[in-house]
Amino acid sequence: MAYAPLLAVASLLTGCGSKDTPMIPIPADSSSYANVNAFATMHMVLDLTADFDLKTLAGTVELQFERRDPNATALVLDSRDLAITNAEAAVGTGAWIPTAFRLDAPTPAFGSALRITMPPGTDRARITYSSSPAAKGLQWLTPAQTAGRVHPFLFTQAQAIQARSFIPLQDLPGVRLTYDATIRTPKELVAVMAAEMTPGTAGSGVFTFRMPQPIPSYLIALAVGDLTFKAMSPRTGIWAEPSVVEAAAREFEDTEQMVAATEKLYGPYRWGRYDLLVLPPSFPFGGMENPRLTFATPTVIAGDKSLVSLVAHELAHSWSGNLVTNATWPDFWLNEGFTTYLERRIIEALYGKARADMEAMIGVADLADSRSTITVPRDKTLLPDMTGRDPDEAYSSVAYEQGALFLRFLEDKFGRQEFDTFLRKWFDTHAFESATTEDFLTFLKTELMARKPGVVTDAQVQEWLQAEGVPAFAVLPTSDAFTRVERARDAWVGGGPMTTLASTARVWSAHEWIHFVDALPRTLTQAQMRALDGQFRFTQSGNAEIAHVWFRLAIATRYTQAYAAMEDYMVRIGRRKLILPLYRDLAATPDGKALAVRIFAKAREGYHPMARASVEQVVK
Ligand code: BES
Ligand code: ZN
Repeated sequence: MAYAPLLAVASLLTGCGSKDTPMIPIPADSSSYANVNAFATMHMVLDLTADFDLKTLAGTVELQFERRDPNATALVLDSRDLAITNAEAAVGTGAWIPTAFRLDAPTPAFGSALRITMPPGTDRARITYSSSPAAKGLQWLTPAQTAGRVHPFLFTQAQAIQARSFIPLQDLPGVRLTYDATIRTPKELVAVMAAEMTPGTAGSGVFTFRMPQPIPSYLIALAVGDLTFKAMSPRTGIWAEPSVVEAAAREFEDTEQMVAATEKLYGPYRWGRYDLLVLPPSFPFGGMENPRLTFATPTVIAGDKSLVSLVAHELAHSWSGNLVTNATWPDFWLNEGFTTYLERRIIEALYGKARADMEAMIGVADLADSRSTITVPRDKTLLPDMTGRDPDEAYSSVAYEQGALFLRFLEDKFGRQEFDTFLRKWFDTHAFESATTEDFLTFLKTELMARKPGVVTDAQVQEWLQAEGVPAFAVLPTSDAFTRVERARDAWVGGGPMTTLASTARVWSAHEWIHFVDALPRTLTQAQMRALDGQFRFTQSGNAEIAHVWFRLAIATRYTQAYAAMEDYMVRIGRRKLILPLYRDLAATPDGKALAVRIFAKAREGYHPMARASVEQVVK
């Protein structure tokens, strides 16, 4: 079993009683300096001021520990680019006493260990500090980068190991904490956190929050801006800038149904509210599953709900990830592979199997494309070696899609009903715990493989985890709709009339369009590209995913008429998954490389530090 802190709280929430358990060691985590088997964080109290002139979050953090080693006198925390001005220690609710602290020299991958002297008996530490304007986990946006263009904006992105760039703490997913927070902002702005918000604090410049469920540090999240709220159902709603909130609420109006569908499959939603925060377009991810408050890119507001699988995905993390958390970053597939599988089950429940299968096929194509760009062989497997590396360096679609295919395979072999029961039990058994790949394999063997022997072999399981490709015995999705798209493509590429293609395509959904463009030969002539664009207006597409595959085709065929629009897209949008492949494709040729460098020079300032770092790798 994995380490579970605050068992009293966890069992209250889960309703299943767990009594006094022996102290279970927290798994070693090479991405953190924290000495978690001496002190393990239980609770945090934050008091921070967001200063938009200085671009700093500054104030105090108090950490309350379970002392796991009564003799330990040194606490080691994670930090990155923080200015530390004071450290204090205390025993229980006793008075604070100043204590010695020291910052080690930073390493590029993990930042600086912060060493604090903890006199005998002390189990609380309070640190006074300020973040750096260049903090890797923060983006400070100018008014021009927001929808309203009047107020600045700030958001955090803690996953995987950026929480340490705005809070000194034990920054690893093997430890869970509850927290209370006070956030001070300019009076005209609103702060939101992925936590329970105290009602009635708007307009005062002081906001208070409470996170009663124990979470890993990567789920700590804050945003500050000109934000307003619109309810979608009693427990779901949208936070966004005023000019965005209506469109977002329309696009995501099925969210409540998604929550209900997921509960039916995998058990109760245990986090109270489920809201979405729609960020400005520089948000470097599609979505981030911050508890109670998913952070989302506005690029999924397509007007036709075609990209709402993002909501299904981030919502699914409320079970796979937030409830049962990867114990260390090499176990990342337990978060993302499970979530991608759950996401498609939610899509199937709401919109039917045909759509879920189309999305699964797009996923398989992503997996192949993504694997082809990976240079470290083990990064092509579900179990990358992250020793000495920032987990972000190993980030790719592999954990998502190979992981989802693995679960799809298990579902196929054991039967849906059996597998659903199994997954639900996994979430219930490990609720509010961090779990390792080993934990999962043990559970799989005892709960499924031993009960139905001979259906799946150990060797197959190992191949799923260790192979650099999709196993030959995988159960791949198929789609009749995509077969029809391919037939229409072949007819047109083979010289068939545009009118025939246009009339076939009249009923296509965004998914079929994405597949059509993505599956076009990279050898199309300028005349063919012009004909397609003239007919279907791909260059002007308002669907960010269709535009993405079109721009990739444009680069491959040197269709330069699309380049101005592509450049606008790459400057306006900071979502890594949409822009990185474009930079990568461009950088593959000398002309393209020069263009990529020029676009990046223009876009750089507006990108999140993580997007900036990723693009730099590609265009350097
Ligand atoms: N948790 C991830 C985002 C993430 C992963 C941030 C690792 C930092 C490090 C989130 O749930 C996610 O997977 N987002 C996807 C959404 C998509 C698969 C629907 C994204 O951003 O593209
Ligand atoms: Zn995810």
